[in-house]
Amino acid sequence: MATVTFTGLNMPKDMTIYAVAGDTGTLLALAKKHDIPIPFQCQDGECGSCLVKVSYLDGKAPMAIDLAEKEKVTLSVNGKLNRNLLEAAENAHRPPPYRLACQFIVRDETILVEFSGEPGVE
Ligand code: FES
Repeated sequence: MATVTFTGLNMPKDMTIYAVAGDTGTLLALAKKHDIPIPFQCQDGECGSCLVKVSYLDGKAPMAIDLAEKEKVTLSVNGKLNRNLLEAAENAHRPPPYRLACQFIVRDETILVEFSGEPGVE
C-alpha cells in the first residue's frame, strides 16, 4: 500500500491518502480523486504547472525514479533538474526532489508531497 501525505500552502491541513493497488496511477490522478488542490493544466508533462517536491519517508530504496524525456525537459526548463540531479537519478537511483505530479506514478512507498498551490511553484 502506498502512503501519500499531501501538504500544500493552499490546504487547511495536511492530508494522508492510503492508496491500494489499482489506485496506483499518477500522483495527480490520486490528488484529483481526493480533491487535493495541486494546480495542473496539460496533464501531459509539458506545462510544469503540477510541480511538486517529493520526499521519501520509509527508508526503502525509492521507486518511480525513471523520468520520461518530457519530464526531464520540463523540469530542466523550470530550473528544477540540473545535470547533477539527472545523473544521480539515472546512474545512482537517487530520485530528484522535484517532480511533475502528472508524470509521477504512485508506488508502494511512503512519500511526502509538497506544493504551493501556485502553478509551477513547489
Ligand atoms: Fe502540465 Fe503536469 S499538468 S506538466
